[in-house]
Amino acid sequence: MIDDIRAAREAALERIAAAATLDDIAALDTQLLGKRGDLAQLKTRLGSLGSVDERKAAGQQLNEATAAVASALAGTRDELGAAEGERRIAAERLDLTEHVARPRRGRPHLVTQAQERLEDVFVGLGFQIAEGPEVETDWHNFEALNMGEGHPARSDFDTLFVDHAGAEPGRTVLRTHTSPVQIRAMLAGAPPIYIVAPGRVFRRDTPDATHMPVFHQIEGLVVDRGITLAHLAGTIEAFTKAFFGSGFSSRLRPSYFPFTEPSAEFDIRTPSGDWLELGGSGMVHPNVLRAGGIDPEQWSGFAFGFGIDRMAMERHAVGDMREMFTGDIRFAEQF
Ligand code: PHE
Repeated sequence: MIDDIRAAREAALERIAAAATLDDIAALDTQLLGKRGDLAQLKTRLGSLGSVDERKAAGQQLNEATAAVASALAGTRDELGAAEGERRIAAERLDLTEHVARPRRGRPHLVTQAQERLEDVFVGLGFQIAEGPEVETDWHNFEALNMGEGHPARSDFDTLFVDHAGAEPGRTVLRTHTSPVQIRAMLAGAPPIYIVAPGRVFRRDTPDATHMPVFHQIEGLVVDRGITLAHLAGTIEAFTKAFFGSGFSSRLRPSYFPFTEPSAEFDIRTPSGDWLELGGSGMVHPNVLRAGGIDPEQWSGFAFGFGIDRMAMERHAVGDMREMFTGDIRFAEQF
């Protein structure tokens, strides 16, 4: 009997040692310690033993064996439980090492690329970069640019107005062009002034292939002694060659803007002979100089302004302006 108990105990401990999962342990628990288990079977045989001493000794052996099996089950259950927990944590962990080791590099937006190149070219020609607010006063955007209230040219700019507390309605606008930066530059410091001002502008336009309600312009302003239309033409030509290449040239075409007199549109001629309309320009109107606190008897100047988005489209053969602003990574990744 004692030998049987010892054998049953050894067999049970071996099976426990071989258990690989918590499910194995649960199954062994019922098999080894349950009513039909080996140890329980042996217990039923105790009664058939001859002497009290024999029964006592065998009972003790049996109790010890049961306790040993129970504690082996508990110990193994703890070990497997801990290991399984670790495995689950390891499986659920996100491996970010690849992303940390090889970060995906972004790139500037097409318009930003064009703007930075434009800035580089103009800085190379001796200009400084200036900035102005996107939310502008009616005075800076129109009035000071020789477009008083009721001026018919105002209707060319489909203006978006901003309502805000404490302000007279219709007096605050989203700037419709970068030209108000001319006024701010003149008020900020005395001539000579040589600045370009790139930035975002806004018009109430329905988006289509060549228009967006939010777009970008770059403004140029020069105010100095003895500035003439020849300086304007020469600057546009120098810019054209520096930005597009020596195979390109430019021309001025008579036009009208309230803030320049005379005014001209300027076009770029591509090496294949096509003309590309780029923007507006002209000699700064005396009223505009006066609004900027500058004496038109002593100083003269020229100004120009053109769209950056269309230049970026032209350069990269983008067929639809809206593509540039949908934020689709498949589009952006091409440039
Ligand atoms: N501001 C004008 C426009 O948006 C362009 C321009 C700028 C014209 C400077 C003349 C001088 O159309």
